[in-house]
Amino acid sequence: MRQRRDRRGNVGEGILSGGTTSVGAPRPTAAGTREGAPLSATAFPRVGGTVYCEGVPLPQIAAAAGTPAYVYSTAGVRAQYRMLDAAFGGVPHRIHYSVKANGNLAVLRLLQSLGAGVDIVSGGELYRALRANYTGDDVVFSGVGKTAAEIGEALAVGVRLINVESEAELYLVNEEAARAGVVASVALRVNPEVTVSSPHPYIKTGERGNKFGIAYDEIAGVVHRAKHLRSVRLRGLDMHLGSQVAGTDPYKDGVQRLIALYHTLVADGATDIVYLDVGGGLAVTYDDEAPADPSAFAAVVKAALPSGLTVLVEPGRYLVANAGVLLTRVLYRKQTGGKTYIITDAGMTELLRPSHYSAYHRIEPVSEPTGSQTVVDVVGPVCESGDFFALDRRLDDVVPGDLLVIYSAGAYGFAMASNYNARPRPAEVLVDGGRFAVVTTRETYEDLVRHEQSTLAWRDA
Ligand code: LLP
Repeated sequence: MRQRRDRRGNVGEGILSGGTTSVGAPRPTAAGTREGAPLSATAFPRVGGTVYCEGVPLPQIAAAAGTPAYVYSTAGVRAQYRMLDAAFGGVPHRIHYSVKANGNLAVLRLLQSLGAGVDIVSGGELYRALRANYTGDDVVFSGVGKTAAEIGEALAVGVRLINVESEAELYLVNEEAARAGVVASVALRVNPEVTVSSPHPYIKTGERGNKFGIAYDEIAGVVHRAKHLRSVRLRGLDMHLGSQVAGTDPYKDGVQRLIALYHTLVADGATDIVYLDVGGGLAVTYDDEAPADPSAFAAVVKAALPSGLTVLVEPGRYLVANAGVLLTRVLYRKQTGGKTYIITDAGMTELLRPSHYSAYHRIEPVSEPTGSQTVVDVVGPVCESGDFFALDRRLDDVVPGDLLVIYSAGAYGFAMASNYNARPRPAEVLVDGGRFAVVTTRETYEDLVRHEQSTLAWRDA
């Protein structure tokens, strides 16, 4: 196995998708994995100099599917799922995968086959889940702005829980359930008002003054006032602290607050509560941060859990981020104004995270790095100055035609892709051992205008 240098000049092992080997990180083992590292870190090994996904060389995928393309590893997803599921062993629990991270039907079906449920935030995500063979009981429905129609759709399939985010929504759910002749199972999304150190303010959700959920000190009043509602049944309490949450302390604080509230509500007669939904947000490695430790996370939840409650977890990124990469080709190497730009055929339209959250994604050549490096900006072709993947990054010298792999792109990659600049969205490829399949074909130009009318049906005012 070869060595390479990361952007700080540290020497690390070259096969890890989960970040570089750095001071304090576990030692590489003979098999090339790091003890304690997520198993998905082995999903994209370098074999004979070339990056593979499991047993398939990435250049073969580029040749078959074109670039840019997302590539996902089934083994990577499976490993993450199993680790988290095992960590909650011994207590009643269910992992509800957060569809927003990557709603591809093949990914959803894979997770369904492993035993996952889903966490959805829209009628569209419900539709995706049902198309991937989930049933209503597999679904928890979160989201701060559910429409009456979406609530109706959720009730029609009997979702396990509607995570209600405001008092007004609770009354709307009650109305819609009465209309449908059912009793809706609801959880209240509590804003636990816990401080988290997420890397970007846009992905914090559980601090006071946030649009999500109901303020902690208002919950008891909401429940008390809702006692007369006949078509909702309070089955759970829910929180979501934010994303890329480092460490277990925020979860510990949040769960303790939720459980204190649970006891208050039970004392006030809310005896139907059986679910404690602790949200998602488990951190993954993009660079050399420590990934979330599923056992430590589960331990803080388990330690506080009153008997009789089932834990629900809503991870998105944890299950898929490091099981996916974005494969892109270098179009130009441009030197101007004292800088070197690597211009790729992917841009912010394919992977928005760097420009939207200043997110770091590790980037490497797919073929064996030359060792000769330059400080470059890696940018896309979109007509926006904010269209970049990396700024002032030390990168192995690549030339037009070379393939680059952008790691940790399995979550919030394709899901946030857009057609800006009239760019067709990319292909998605799933790898399973030594075989691969295109699971989403690249959009065509025709797709771009599919819903636009050429004959206008004017209506008079
Ligand atoms: N549950 C709820 C209610 C959520 O709002 C989210 C994410 C999750 C679960 C899953 O969070 P995760 O485990 O993936 O961190 N686009 C941003 C992330 C936005 C997350 C929004 N909510 C990014 O690219 O970092």
